[in-house]
Amino acid sequence: MQFTKLLSVFVLLCATISCSQKSKKTVAPKIIPIPLKQELAKGQFMLSSNTELHYAETFKVSAQFLKSYIANSSQIKLKDSNGENTILFIRDTLLSNKEEYNIDITPKNIKITAATNNGAFYAVQTLRQLLPLSFENGTEKEDRIAIQCLKIEDKPQFVYRGMHLDVGRHFFSTKFIKQYIDALAMLKMNTFHWHLTEDQGWRIEIKKYPKLNKIAAYRDETLIGHYNDEPQEFDGKKYGGYYSQEEIKDIVKYAQERHITIIPEIEMPGHSQAAIAAYPHLGCSGKQVEVATKWGVFEDIYCSKDDTFNFIEDVLDEVVELFPSQYIHIGGDEAPKTRWKTCSDCQHRMQTEGLKDEHELQSYFISRVESYLNSKGRQIIGWDEILEGGLAPNATVMSWRGTDGAVAAAKQKHNVINTPTSHCYFDYYQSTNKDEPTAIGGFLPLEKVYSFNPIPEELTTEESQYILGAQGNVWTEYMPTEAQVEYMVFPRILAMSEVVWSKNENKDYNDFISRVENFNKRLDTLGINYANHLYEVEGELFTKNEKQNYALKTLTKGKDIRYTLDGNEPTLNSKKYKGPIPIFESKTIKAAVFNQKKKLGLTFIETINYHKAIGKKITLNVAPNKTYSGSGKEGMINGINGSNERFGDKEWLGFWGDDLEITIDFGEITKINAIETRFYNANGQWLYSPKKINIDFSQDCNVKGKLPSIEVKNRDSIISTFNTTFKNLSASKVILRIPNYGIIPEGFQGAGNKAWTFIDEIIVK
Ligand code: ACM
Ligand code: ZN
Repeated sequence: MQFTKLLSVFVLLCATISCSQKSKKTVAPKIIPIPLKQELAKGQFMLSSNTELHYAETFKVSAQFLKSYIANSSQIKLKDSNGENTILFIRDTLLSNKEEYNIDITPKNIKITAATNNGAFYAVQTLRQLLPLSFENGTEKEDRIAIQCLKIEDKPQFVYRGMHLDVGRHFFSTKFIKQYIDALAMLKMNTFHWHLTEDQGWRIEIKKYPKLNKIAAYRDETLIGHYNDEPQEFDGKKYGGYYSQEEIKDIVKYAQERHITIIPEIEMPGHSQAAIAAYPHLGCSGKQVEVATKWGVFEDIYCSKDDTFNFIEDVLDEVVELFPSQYIHIGGDEAPKTRWKTCSDCQHRMQTEGLKDEHELQSYFISRVESYLNSKGRQIIGWDEILEGGLAPNATVMSWRGTDGAVAAAKQKHNVINTPTSHCYFDYYQSTNKDEPTAIGGFLPLEKVYSFNPIPEELTTEESQYILGAQGNVWTEYMPTEAQVEYMVFPRILAMSEVVWSKNENKDYNDFISRVENFNKRLDTLGINYANHLYEVEGELFTKNEKQNYALKTLTKGKDIRYTLDGNEPTLNSKKYKGPIPIFESKTIKAAVFNQKKKLGLTFIETINYHKAIGKKITLNVAPNKTYSGSGKEGMINGINGSNERFGDKEWLGFWGDDLEITIDFGEITKINAIETRFYNANGQWLYSPKKINIDFSQDCNVKGKLPSIEVKNRDSIISTFNTTFKNLSASKVILRIPNYGIIPEGFQGAGNKAWTFIDEIIVK
């Protein structure tokens, strides 16, 4: 990291020197994703209309991309010939990785070496980040651009570097899809996972089944607000659309020119209600259903009769004609087995195929479709549910319910793409700020995405070869507009690009943030609507020498934090934060980031509810699940409640299926008058409050007490509450026994899985 710091000082120096020379600009290399190796050299290369472009035929696409990028971005027109002041594309077949490239910029030449056009294309994307921002929107007026001399050696860590987009819940224009592909290419991603079919809309033209486009592509209305709102409300407006085969061909070609493979996803057997609305015989009951108008998991799924397989094979015949990708994603997630259990066709299928339960029937379903696609020379990818009931022989697993699926599949020698909700779901909130637009729930800040290592630690080096890479998933229930998609994707996609491209040892969050701050200017120029949480404040309560203190921090350097404790909005005149604030009573802290002139980000507000358990000793019988371990067990007695909207914030701790035993040790006899806590109860996300809690207490080793079990209240609401009062109960320890809800019942999302328990503060008064 020292190297990177030195680098920026040096570049600053060069930039200052060049500023004094008219009609030249230098730009510091603040590349995302960070290259494997980069080293500055003396001097500058002068890019102008005298610059010539020389390339081997293999590199024609990349060379022409660069030529038109520069022509469309500035007054500079490159020439196609040999000579001095040349950009050279040189083939080096000894480079072992086909996506690898080197760039050597000297005052005389820019030399790009790569084994294939893929590598050359990534070299061009790097070069692009060395050019002025004004190139991005074609406003560059200078006719000579100085590029800092440097050498870069670069190659990706993972072969699969993806982004997903759900166009079923909301539909986006072909123009936007191309912009999305442009962004992926700029960040050296190589796969676009296009989620094309959903309960709420079928989005791909299938010529043999016109009702998919007449009926399945449109829903009567759409849920407004959040799914958990009561009562649910609808907008009453017909909504939909689909991509014609001509549009798809055009997009596939556009993506190919940017070295992006498009993997289409055709969901089965679940998430297929829109198709069943168009062709009811595809379901088990044959009854007419509607294209879904709200979010969730639906029970009308494809039946396992031959008619359905014929339909699926016909659809896939058209799909493989449109998409040349090695992989076709066939979904496989969230398929309730309710209809199959009472369907004579499905039960008959189970009997004749010797399948012991409906999970094996799902496995049969997926394997049958797999062998059809294999016969066409294609491979399948499925969500991790395809592990249940036995994995189809050649399937690649996309692990989303944590990384257990990734571990299980890699151990079975199957390829894996790692996309756990905890680190890869860009539909989750990215900030705890109250002003964030409504999202599905959860909490996935930039730093958590950046910290992701696609290789689970449980795997050996040999097993980890099966991890092809990772991707960010963008489910669009709560993203009705293209601007909203951009807001949720940027800047988290920047972090993901570095997760999949850059070497883990080269990653440094502070350095990344300084590059994001710079990259945001590029996004401004590109007109991309990114979320900017760089100028927000984060806080943490901690105990030192048995006293509580509150620490504030912000991500970017060279700014001030100013705060108030009297409830007023912080201003330029408020107290400047210099060190931790002592806390000895309930307080509300309001803080914000300022430069010399103004407030930069939103106001941070933290309310500390001072109570008797703060700073005491807390022990748990099980550790929280590693993906929802928040600020650790101490976070349960730090005086701070979790957010009512974001169960993934650091104040909520998540336990998957565990019965909990939480002990708070006061260290001395303490008079207790009340114990309160809360549970997050988002059933759509598999979170269920416990029904009852038991409390035991002890005064010393001999005096122990057990209180009758006490019901948890508001179990119909998103936040359930628990409280019990005493009259000066004397105790040195209290033990809360909190049983897990159990298995999620049929008919609910996640049915058959263990429920999660999410708990925040335990308040002792
Ligand atoms: C998923 O998020 N249902 C794959
Ligand atoms: Zn059936």
